[in-house]
Amino acid sequence: MQRLEPGSDVPDALIPYLGVDRTRGPHECWVTAHMVAGLDGTAAVNGRVGALSTAPDQELFRRMRQIADVVLVGAETVRREGYGPVRLTEQAQADRVAQRRTPIPPVAVVSRSLDLDWGTKVFTEPTAEARTLVITCASADPERRAVAEAHATVLVAGEDRVDPVQALAALADLGHRVVLCEGGPRWLGELVAADRVDELCLSISPMMGGDPLPVSVTPPGSPPAAFELRDTMIEANTLFLRYERPGGRSNG
Ligand SMILES: NC(=O)c1ccc[n+]([C@@H]2O[C@H](COP(=O)([O-])OP(=O)(O)OC[C@H]3O[C@@H](n4cnc5c(N)ncnc54)[C@H](OP(=O)(O)O)[C@@H]3O)[C@@H](O)[C@H]2O)c1
Repeated sequence: MQRLEPGSDVPDALIPYLGVDRTRGPHECWVTAHMVAGLDGTAAVNGRVGALSTAPDQELFRRMRQIADVVLVGAETVRREGYGPVRLTEQAQADRVAQRRTPIPPVAVVSRSLDLDWGTKVFTEPTAEARTLVITCASADPERRAVAEAHATVLVAGEDRVDPVQALAALADLGHRVVLCEGGPRWLGELVAADRVDELCLSISPMMGGDPLPVSVTPPGSPPAAFELRDTMIEANTLFLRYERPGGRSNG
């Protein structure tokens, strides 16, 4: 047991995350999940995440997208949060271009139903280069799929449901090597169950109460996945924890 003592100031909260080598994962792409939880593990308050997120967490959430080749998210989160395209500062875009990345990562939405509001900003406002992706399965309704194709680039990954492994392979085929998953809990749980979460950036917000929805909902029978703590920061009573799956990946 060790006590975590207050350490040196971090001049820029993004620096510890920018410094992570995400080329060393065991698969064709690296998956970073970024979530915020209350002290009781809740992932939402009245169906939204806003009340859980403190000011430094909100800022980190926006800026963390700088590390991503693509931002991956479940359809219910897009529906509830009214997602828009990723916005980054001019400097962040220039830094990405200097690293031979696109200025802005696209958003990829996972949906079987394709029951999405195509008037949402995430579909109407991205640049052509960051056109939103929709990842669905072969059994999706063909008429809805045709509509989806008019508003987004549609990828098919799996038969009756989106298979996380196939979805990540499809993203990697498009050149996306760093996948930032922003939830929600059910889609994140699918990635955890498939053992495809390489890194978890978890903010612990100093509050209790909220919806009976934990940060990750794994399908029944999924084995637990163990993580190792790699970084801790604190601001405004909010803990910023960075975990990675161990290299050997044995479940513990
Ligand atoms: N605390 C946080 O950091 C955080 C982050 C994100 C979201 N949230 C909160 O979490 C809640 C939403 O999360 P959620 O867990 O209910 O939903 P979610 O994971 O965002 O989305 C679930 C939906 O994604 C699609 N999906 C998931 N797995 C799929 C699969 N294998 N194949 C095909 N489609 C699949 C389905 O869409 P279709 O129904 O379209 O088929 C499913 O209904 C909201 O309250 C939001 O505010 C919190």
